[in-house]
Amino acid sequence: MLSPEINRLLTEVSPGTGMGNALRRYWLPALLSSEVAEPDGAPVRVRMLGEDLVAFRDTTGVVGLVDSKCPHRRAPMFFGRNEECGIRCVYHGWKFDAAGNCVDLPSEPPDSIFKTKVNILAYPTWEGGGIVWAYLGPRAELPPFPAYEWLRAPDTHVRSSKTLEHANYLQALEGGIDTAHSSFVHNNDLGNASRLKSQNTHPQLEVEQTGYGFRYAGIRTLGHDQKYVRAYQFFLPAMQMRAAFIDGQGEPRKTQTLRGHIWVPVDDEWTMVYNWVCGADGDNPISDELWEKHEKAAGRGADDFIPGSYRLKRNLDNDFLIDREMQRTRTYTGITGLNTQDFAVQEGMGAVCDRSQEHLGTSDRAIIVARRMLREAVDDVAEGRRPLGVETDELRLVRPAEAILDGPLPWQEAMKDLLSAQW
Ligand code: FES
Ligand SMILES: [Fe+2]
Repeated sequence: MLSPEINRLLTEVSPGTGMGNALRRYWLPALLSSEVAEPDGAPVRVRMLGEDLVAFRDTTGVVGLVDSKCPHRRAPMFFGRNEECGIRCVYHGWKFDAAGNCVDLPSEPPDSIFKTKVNILAYPTWEGGGIVWAYLGPRAELPPFPAYEWLRAPDTHVRSSKTLEHANYLQALEGGIDTAHSSFVHNNDLGNASRLKSQNTHPQLEVEQTGYGFRYAGIRTLGHDQKYVRAYQFFLPAMQMRAAFIDGQGEPRKTQTLRGHIWVPVDDEWTMVYNWVCGADGDNPISDELWEKHEKAAGRGADDFIPGSYRLKRNLDNDFLIDREMQRTRTYTGITGLNTQDFAVQEGMGAVCDRSQEHLGTSDRAIIVARRMLREAVDDVAEGRRPLGVETDELRLVRPAEAILDGPLPWQEAMKDLLSAQW
C-alpha cells in the first residue's frame, strides 16, 4: 500500500517532477531503429516522459531527436523536410542539424547572425539492439552508453519490438517483476498439472540488491528435493530480464534465449513497452520464424496491431476480446496472447493504479523493493547525487537464468555460471 502522495511521486514523469528528473538520468528507448530505417527518410513523432519530439535519420545515418515544434513560430517539425544533414521546417525553411544547431535561415537576410543564436531542443541518441536510445537529462550528467549484455550480441541473435499500453509505466513494470502471476494469468493449459508453474503456484521470492537494481529468484519446490528456480534481473529505472532455458514441462528448450521488457513512460497514463529476445549464446540465433512465433504467442503478431499504430486490436475498449467459453474450458483468462493477458490486468487497473487500496503479500517482495529503489533514485537526484545504476560496470556482467536444481547448494552458487554474461 502506498499513500496517494508517494503514488504520485512514483508515477508522475513530466519535466520538473521528482520521478521525471530521476528517469531523465538514464538512457531510455525512444523508438525502434526500423522506424527511421532510411537516411533522409520521413520524420517520426515520438512522445516520451510527457515531451513531444520528432526523430529523423540524417544523411550520414545519425538519428536526431528534436522538439516537435519549430523554435521560430512553433510549426510542427513532423511536416519537415529531412534533407542534406538536417531537418527543415516547412513554414519558413529554417533548418536544424541532429545536434539542434540552426544551419540555415533562408527567411532572414544573408548577413544575419541570428542563426548563431537560435537552435532547437535536441537530445543525444545512441543505437543498439534495434532500438534508438535517448538521454533526456542534463548534459553535464550524460552517462556512458547502455552496456547490457544483450546489446553486445550479433544482429543475428537479437530482435526487438514495441507495444503501446494504456497504463502508467509503474504498473506495467510491477507486472513484469511479479513472478507469481505466471502460474495464473498465463496458464493457457488448464488441467495440465504437470506444467512446471502449475505444480507449485506459490513461489518463494528472494531479492538481492545490486549496483544496478536487484536480482531476484522465484523458487518453486517440486518434490523429490527438486527446485525450479527462475532468476530475473531488474535494472533501474525500468527494465526486466528473464531467461527461457527450459520449457513448460521442464525440458531444455530447443533455442535458449534471454528476454526482457523496458517500460518507457509516454506520459503519466501511457507506456511504450519495448520487448526484446536475445539468443543465449552463439548456438542460438533468432530466426525470422522463431521471432514471428514468439511475437504471435505474446499477442503481438503482425495482425494483432491496429494498422499504422503500436496499439493492440485487443484492448480495454473491447475487453481484450475475452472468450468466456475458452476461459471456462481451456485457459485461465480466455484472452489470447501472453502479453495481452498482462495488458488486460494492467490496463484494467485504471491508467494510474490507486495503490492506497492494495494489500501486498509475500509474493510481492520484488515489487516492494523496486518501489523503494525508485524512491531512492528520486531522492538521490533531488539531493544532487547520481542515482544507482547510471554508471556501473556491474550491469555488463550479468544475465538472468532458470534451472531445475537438486542438491543442497543455494541457487546463487549452483547457478553462478548461468548468471554470468556470455556475450
Ligand atoms: S515556424 Fe518554422 S521556420 Fe517559421
Ligand atoms: Fe506476465
